Formats: sequence, C-alpha cells, structure tokens
Amino acid sequence: MSTPLDLSAPTPLRSGWHDSWRSWLQRLYASEKLYRWSLANPFTRRVTRRRTRQLFDLMAGFVHSQVLLACVRLGLFDALRDQPATVAALAQRTGVPEAELQRLLLSAVTLGLLEHRSGGRLGLGPLGVPLTTHPAIAQMVEHNQLLYQDLSDPLAFLRQDRQGDMAGYWPYAHGGLAAVQAPGANEQVGRYSDLMAESQGFMVHEILSSYFFDEHRCVLDVGAGKGRFVTELARHAPHLRLQMFDLPPVLERASERVSQAGLSERISLHPGSFIDDPLPTGADLITLVRVLHDHPDAVVRNILHKAHAALPPGGVLLVAEPMAQDADAPAQHQADAYFHFYLMAMGAGRLRTAQEIRALLREAGFTAIEQVPNAMPIHGQLVLGRKCLP
Ligand SMILES: C[S@@+](CC[C@H](N)C(=O)[O-])C[C@H]1O[C@@H](n2cnc3c(N)ncnc32)[C@H](O)[C@@H]1O
Repeated sequence: MSTPLDLSAPTPLRSGWHDSWRSWLQRLYASEKLYRWSLANPFTRRVTRRRTRQLFDLMAGFVHSQVLLACVRLGLFDALRDQPATVAALAQRTGVPEAELQRLLLSAVTLGLLEHRSGGRLGLGPLGVPLTTHPAIAQMVEHNQLLYQDLSDPLAFLRQDRQGDMAGYWPYAHGGLAAVQAPGANEQVGRYSDLMAESQGFMVHEILSSYFFDEHRCVLDVGAGKGRFVTELARHAPHLRLQMFDLPPVLERASERVSQAGLSERISLHPGSFIDDPLPTGADLITLVRVLHDHPDAVVRNILHKAHAALPPGGVLLVAEPMAQDADAPAQHQADAYFHFYLMAMGAGRLRTAQEIRALLREAGFTAIEQVPNAMPIHGQLVLGRKCLP
C-alpha cells in the first residue's frame, strides 16, 4: 500500500452566476442539432473542428507517444539529421520491413516529427529537429516508458497500488537517505542523477535568463544533483561563490564534475539530508530546483523552514520547478496532466500551483513573495521570497 498523498488546495469559490453559465454551455455543447448547424456554418466550423480534433488527440495520445518512441529507438532523428532519406533506405538501415516502416514514417509526418522532401524522401519536421539538438528529450521519451507501464491499468494505479517501476526508479522518494545508502542503491542513484543532469538544461536556461544574480555573493543549491545548474551559474555569474547540498552518494558523483570544470575553488560540497540535517549557512540566495514537487507537504514545510533559518536577513529563496496552472486559469496546460501522474507514480510529492508555493513560503516566514516571469513556463516556473530584515 502506498503512502496517502496530500490534497491540493481547494478550488476557489465560483459565483452561482458562473455555474449557471457553464451549465447552459454544457447543454449547448450536448445538442446534436447545434453540432450539425455549427459544421454547416463557415464561421463556427473551425471551432467545432478544433474541439473534435482535441478530443481525438486525447483518445490517440498513446499511439502518438509510441510513434515518437519508435522513431527514437530506431535512431530516425539522427539518421535524418544531415540529409533526407527514402523509405527503402531507412528500411535497410533499421531492419524494419518497408511497408510497416512507411506507416510509422507517415504517422511521424502527421505529428510534425518528420516531413516529406523531394524525390519521395523524408526529412526532419519542426518537432523532430529538437530531438537532434537536445539528447535529453530522447532520454525522457525512453524514461517515460516506466510511467506508461505503471499506468497500463490506470484504475489499479489510482486505487493506490502504486509501487511500480517509477517508484523504484526514485529511491529517496520512499526512504530518504537510508534508501539511497541501501545495498544496491548505488546504481539507481547514478541513473537518476545522470538523467537529472541531462534534463536540467531547459530549467537552467529559464533561471539564468529570468533572474538577476548581481545582488548575491553566495548561492546554495539544495538538491543540487550532479551540479549542472551550479556549474553553469558559476560561468554565468563569475562573482559568485557556490555551495551544493544533496545526499552523500549524489555529491560523490558531483565532485568529479566540479573538479573537471575547474571550479573546486568556488564551489563547496555539503553532503546531508534536508530531512534530518540543517542546511549549511553562508549563502544569501538558496535555490530549490525541481526539488519540492518530489515531496509531501510536511517535508516541503521542513525544507522551507530550514532554508529560512539558513539565510541571513534580506536573503532570498528561489523555487524553480514545474507548477500547475492556477485553478481559475482556463484549462490549457496539458503538461499538468503529465506531471500530476508522473509525481503520483514517483510516490510522495505533487504538482503545486504557484499560489500554493507562495502560501508555503509565507508560512515559512518569507516575505516579498513574487513570481518571476519566465519565457517557457512549461519547463518550470519561478517563485521567490525574501527573509525579512530585522
Ligand atoms: C528531481 S532531482 C533534481 C536535481 C536538480 N536540482 C535538477 O533539477 O536536476 C531532486 C534532487 O533532490 C535530492 N534529494 C532528495 N532527497 C533529498 C534529501 N533528503 N536531502 C538532500 N537532497 C535530497 C536528490 O538526490 C536529487 O538530486
């Protein structure tokens, strides 16, 4: 049986007027007559078609992600990076029969992953190009298979039989320090730390392009992993000293990266567990990058109190991670569904809205809490708070 999960904050109260309006719309959408009329009408046809396409895509989503997975596993994006190729050439290269491969390639074209080119050849489409420039995307496509295996019976999954492959991938989510120090856990720690270092690039870019570090002297990154953020920050802001805090087996791996980068003089490593140990002092900015969402509310409160205690007056805490859309925003972030289920499969944490994170920061004693706007919120959003001056 899994640990009971925390509930999100309740949806803000809506007016009765809003309810009546939505009920009226619901009746309207259900009308077969209106559906036929809207398709016949050139002004409304586009809206009706868009809705139908959206619903179809929801139904077909599994096939879409399997098309992507097959392209990744066959190495098609790399094969087509330098020049387009015919179906026959790709069939020879991949060993997949030509007719079957053609179905895959045509599907990939409709999904924007590939494109038709001259002479019956296929090349990279607009959604295929990023797979050749960011290896982390293909790694996440492969990693997601753990999640999809866990979700193969979604009702069993929801009824708390969630000790599946994804839970096993993240030992600390279930047993903290003891779990990562258990015999045999070394390989798991190496695997998740490598994946995090690869996939952190997008988030690092969001932070470095949205937040100014000029006012700070020393930054402590809590849950720092192998130190990708810290090493890139060291190059981005050469005036900074940096500290990394993570579980001991993770920081053992980080020390190699730091010394290879020639940054051992500026970056200090502080092994420990934020559940059991205090955080090191000395930094005037503490960062939590993709850390809070892994943990239940009680652990998050503990981490935030420790961060507050470790900062000097005037010090800043910056939280950067995927956040849920606020309950009153129009439903458009399909990324939320992915993160809700990913974190549920992982076992203990949850996707929080920026409002919920702001409330947790306030509760821990932070003031001047604000959201830092960033260009690509799908990778993560940024919330900061300040420790009051006395
Ligand atoms: C999802 S990873 C994020 C790593 C990195 N910040 C990034 O964005 O790639 C969460 C990190 O928190 C660390 N962590 C988990 N539990 C911890 C604990 N109790 N004390 C310290 N670090 C912990 C993990 O080892 C891991 O490196």
